[in-house]
Amino acid sequence: MPAHVDTDLPNIIELRNVSQSYDGGENWIIRNLNLLVEDKPDQGQFVVILGMSGCGKSTLLRYIAGLQDPTEGDVLVHDRPRGADNRVSMVFQQYSSLPWLTVLDNVSLALRYKGVAAKERNDKARELIELVGLKGHEEKFAQYPTLSGGQLQRVAIARSLIANPEIILMDEPFGALDINTRLQMQDLLADLWLRFHPTVVFVTHDISEAVYLGDDIYIMKSAPSRFVEHIKVDLPFHRTRDTKRDPHFVELVREVEDRMVKVASIEE
Ligand SMILES: Nc1ncnc2c1ncn2[C@@H]1O[C@H](COP(=O)(O)OP(=O)(O)OP(=O)(O)O)[C@@H](O)[C@H]1O
Ligand SMILES: [Mg+2]
Repeated sequence: MPAHVDTDLPNIIELRNVSQSYDGGENWIIRNLNLLVEDKPDQGQFVVILGMSGCGKSTLLRYIAGLQDPTEGDVLVHDRPRGADNRVSMVFQQYSSLPWLTVLDNVSLALRYKGVAAKERNDKARELIELVGLKGHEEKFAQYPTLSGGQLQRVAIARSLIANPEIILMDEPFGALDINTRLQMQDLLADLWLRFHPTVVFVTHDISEAVYLGDDIYIMKSAPSRFVEHIKVDLPFHRTRDTKRDPHFVELVREVEDRMVKVASIEE
C-alpha cells in the first residue's frame, strides 16, 4: 500500500526509497521506505509516526533534520536534496536545552547564530517564552530541577519556534511527562500549530495523542522498517479536550490500535 496520498499540492518532505544498514548491507534496519508530506503553507500539516521501539522513527527524523544520511535513497525538502538552508528544527525526547544558559539565552540561541542583534532576538524570545507559559522564568537556568520537566519541554518548544521554521520534528517530546502536564502540552502544541502552521512530524507511542494532534498517522513495520498503514484523521481542524469525548475520536483510536496490532502480526 502506498504510504501516502500524492495530490496536486507541492511536496515539502519526501523520503524516497530510503534504506539503512550499519554493517555494509548485511542487515537492513530500514528498507525501501517511502514517505511523502505535502505542503500546505497557510495551514500546516501534522504528521504522526507510530511504530515499535527500535524500528527507526528517530532515524527518520535525523534524516530530515540533516543529522544523518541514509545508506541508500533520497531525502528531499521541497523536491530538492535536503540542504543547510532548509528551515528545520527539532525537539528531542531528552531535554535538549543547554543547562548552562538561561531560558532567555536558550530560546534566543538560534537567532544569535544567525547574527540577529541582541535586542531583537531577546524581544522575540520573550514573546515566545510568554506564549509557552514561562513568563517570569526568563533568567533561570534551563536545567532540572530549577525548571520542571514540563517547563523544560516548553523551553524546547519555544527554542524550536524562534527561527520561524517551516518544519518542526518532534521525537516523543512528551514521553517523560506526567499525564496532566502531557495533556497541557498537547493543548499548547495544538494552539501553537494553529498559530504558526508549520509542517510537524511528530513521533509518539501514545495512540490517543496521535489522533488528537495528527492530520495523518503513519504506522511503521519493523525488520526491515517501512510504512505499511496510513490513517487520515478526519476530525475538526481545531481540536479541544471535548474532541476526545467525540465518539468518532474514540472510534479512530480503536482503529489505529487495531491496525497497530495487525502490523505487528504481519509475517515477512
Ligand atoms: N550506529 C548504529 N549502529 C547499529 N545500529 C544502530 C545504530 N544507530 C541506530 N541503530 C539501530 O537502528 C534502529 C533504529 O533506531 P531508532 O532510534 O531510530 O529507533 P526508534 O524507532 O526511534 O526507537 P524508540 O521508539 O525506542 O525511540 C535500532 O534498532 C538501533 O539499534
Ligand atoms: Mg526514537
